[in-house]
Amino acid sequence: MSEPKRTAYLDNGDSTQLLPEVLEAMMPYFRESYGNPASLHQLGLDAETAIDEARQTIASLIGARSRELFFTSCATESNNIALEGLRRMNPDRKHVIISPIEHASVRNVVRRMAKDGHVEYDELAVDGEGRVDPDSLRELIRDDTLFVSIIHGNNEIGTIQDLRPLAEIAHEHGAVFHSDCAQTLGKIPVNVKQLGVDLASFNSHKLHGPKGAGALFVKRRTKLRRLFEGSPQESGLRPGTENVPAIVGFATAAEIAVRDMDEVMPAANELTVQLAQRLLEIPHVRVNGPEIGGPERLPGNLNLTFKYIEGEAVLMSLNYGGVYVSSGSACSSKSLVPSHVLTGIGLLHEEAHGSIRYTLSRLNTQEDVDLAVEQTNAAVDRLRAMTAFIPEQHSERESDDAKTFYRKREDKL
Ligand SMILES: Cc1ncc(COP(=O)(O)O)c(C=O)c1O
Repeated sequence: MSEPKRTAYLDNGDSTQLLPEVLEAMMPYFRESYGNPASLHQLGLDAETAIDEARQTIASLIGARSRELFFTSCATESNNIALEGLRRMNPDRKHVIISPIEHASVRNVVRRMAKDGHVEYDELAVDGEGRVDPDSLRELIRDDTLFVSIIHGNNEIGTIQDLRPLAEIAHEHGAVFHSDCAQTLGKIPVNVKQLGVDLASFNSHKLHGPKGAGALFVKRRTKLRRLFEGSPQESGLRPGTENVPAIVGFATAAEIAVRDMDEVMPAANELTVQLAQRLLEIPHVRVNGPEIGGPERLPGNLNLTFKYIEGEAVLMSLNYGGVYVSSGSACSSKSLVPSHVLTGIGLLHEEAHGSIRYTLSRLNTQEDVDLAVEQTNAAVDRLRAMTAFIPEQHSERESDDAKTFYRKREDKL
């Protein structure tokens, strides 16, 4: 009998595998307690109780009150309800600010508002590793700025923002501060009070929970106009029958992720650092984003540019070899437009096109890293053999990148 194909799932920034405990917690809400939470009979009450408990669990994990947390279907929906809900509530404030490295579900909402003539928007300056410059916020903020929205942990290059000082600047000008926290809950501490945010978006499927559940934190006294009309679920902010099994799964997964964070994230990071070290031995590779494995980067995130080849071609080759990664951002990985995050931190179009993102989770192993290294070397060799444009030597910039990486590692050891 032939050996089963070896595979390595290194695309946890896109979605994660459901933990068995999470599935177990969800099953009763498919099988037995399948009532509509709005119904007044026992099955409805059981479902309603499950949602109340899930709300309490997630709210306490993020330092919020239960009544400040609203369930949605995903982080995209949370971002839309937050930003569009603010705009509809405050038609007189005509200016908004975002960073240039937001997820499409923030960036495109704001671009749509501007296109429809509702607001003007500005993008903040970021440095070459994606950190927002607070001075740029001070310069751009106006008295009619409605909101500032800055992603907590960037999904592509892993940059973690220091949100509190940015939120304080927004508040000094009467603006609301929103953050997309889809990538951070369960990976690094997320406490809405400490971060100083008024609105924060979350989802379940990035932390080993099911797809179909998200949440929006809305600080007390922050007013949003709802986007959909219907029944009074989620205090009227998000009408529609709740996805009870997914909400229960979300709360269970979030509880486990936060409980185990200090143990499993350093382990995932160690594997990520090792993967980076081994891949940086390939010529003409550059690191995108802050120090790999460092405190300013999401644990498990590695983003590399393989110069002189296309990321999509590397991705296809890796897929064939059983290694699952993404090129550019997940949601735009089916388009050939270069990632706005990578061009936003100053990469040339061809460098952005050559980028691959490896994202590791608590479930990855040494075997996964070995397979990824083996298959990446093979893919890069094969693809570079087909191009005539590779200089003989590493450029100064690439050698510097590799040297800096090793120096930082040695300093730490
Ligand atoms: C930072 C960030 N925000 C929002 C989203 C969208 O999340 P969802 O798939 O739950 O809509 C993602 C998913 O890729 C993300 O990484």
